[in-house]
Amino acid sequence: MRYYFASDHAAFDLKAAMLDMLKQQGHDVVDLGPYDTSSVDYPDYADKLAQALSADPQAQGIAMCGTGIGISIALNRHKHIRAALCHDVTGARLTRAHNDANVLVMGARLIGAETAKDVVTAFIEVAFEGGRHQRRVDKLS
Ligand code: RB5
Repeated sequence: MRYYFASDHAAFDLKAAMLDMLKQQGHDVVDLGPYDTSSVDYPDYADKLAQALSADPQAQGIAMCGTGIGISIALNRHKHIRAALCHDVTGARLTRAHNDANVLVMGARLIGAETAKDVVTAFIEVAFEGGRHQRRVDKLS
């Protein structure tokens, strides 16, 4: 599994911490930016991530902004994206199991790094359950 990361300036440090964690675990990670803390617009980075997942549909995304809300809205305007804003492990687990979410979103101003690590770990470890959930996911698009 390849993981594409995108954020805005508000989540630059949290993105770096999550990238480090997955890299150290040997995962294939791609940082779509930003690459410093200069102010940027989250829709631009949502679009970069949506394009990456369009070209590489088996991969997953991890996205962040200050609240996670703006980048979630932007991501979910793309039909192939199921972006889930999660700040707890249960939500991260269930959005993979039930929604087949292909992007995890977090708000860097709302979550600490240790909790975020647990949320990312839950998201990447849990598989989609399919079955009745597949029918519902199909209806999303
Ligand atoms: C940037 O200041 C902030 O508005 C953005 O990171 C995000 O929280 C928007 O939803």
